[in-house]
Amino acid sequence: MRLKGERAIVTGGASGFGAGIVRRFVAEGARVAIADLNAEGAQVLAAELGEGCLAVRTDVADGASVAALFDRVGEAFGGLDILVNNAGMGTAPAPLETMDEARFDALMGVNCRSVFLTGRLAVPIMKAQRRGAILNIASTGGVSPRPNLAWYNASKGWMITAARAMAVELAPFGVRVNVINPVAGATFMGADTPEIRARFLATIPIGRFSTPADIAAAAVFLCSQEASMVTGVAMEVDGGRCI
Ligand SMILES: NC(=O)c1ccc[n+]([C@@H]2O[C@H](COP(=O)([O-])OP(=O)(O)OC[C@H]3O[C@@H](n4cnc5c(N)ncnc54)[C@H](O)[C@@H]3O)[C@@H](O)[C@H]2O)c1
Repeated sequence: MRLKGERAIVTGGASGFGAGIVRRFVAEGARVAIADLNAEGAQVLAAELGEGCLAVRTDVADGASVAALFDRVGEAFGGLDILVNNAGMGTAPAPLETMDEARFDALMGVNCRSVFLTGRLAVPIMKAQRRGAILNIASTGGVSPRPNLAWYNASKGWMITAARAMAVELAPFGVRVNVINPVAGATFMGADTPEIRARFLATIPIGRFSTPADIAAAAVFLCSQEASMVTGVAMEVDGGRCI
């Protein structure tokens, strides 16, 4: 019960890493709003996890949708202690000059604009209560980019810098902001063939892909009081890939 009584939002919480974080947060005693574009998936998970969970259909790239999310959470939970910016969009590997403007804007909307939209509503609440934890789920690509995912990698680098900038500004108010950089998970974003998988796996010294449970364990630590001295950190959960 390392998050007993905490009130959390997890964006993109209906599947993948986000669902892993939701499950673990609830197991640790938190109440969690699953904010996902996939309303049905969010509802199924919330129903499974019971009273501590709330499903809210949200488009994290849209200001009005994010504002409605915060209204719902305010009514249901009466406050907010933890915000996890996990919702993300990937891109198929391709030379950087082939991306069109619409795709670029969509990518930046989900991966970057979302951090601004949720942050500007979460921060006043957390400042007023003089405590809070914000966590961005970025990527190893944000610190160690590889070819053909340039704009995705750049969006994840943006999430890391945003978190560090927020961390230094918000530290005096008792609000911590950190990042997890996962290595590829079982859902494996991007091109996925057995050959590509095997080649990718060979670059992870621990010899396996990451799991939602790996990411959730790091998320619980960074959002709990055990990490009360930890802010502005971008923690790789990558089996040594970035070494
Ligand atoms: N899976 C990987 O290999 C990997 C590696 C590094 C980083 N990441 C990052 O981890 C995060 C989670 O990835 P995942 O693999 O669990 O992906 P996923 O596709 O399983 O889950 C992402 C969730 O975000 C939701 N979502 C997408 N757009 C949204 C929007 N506009 N508003 C609200 N919700 C939206 C989706 O409905 C989905 O439930 C992402 O930010 C991703 O970039 C993933």
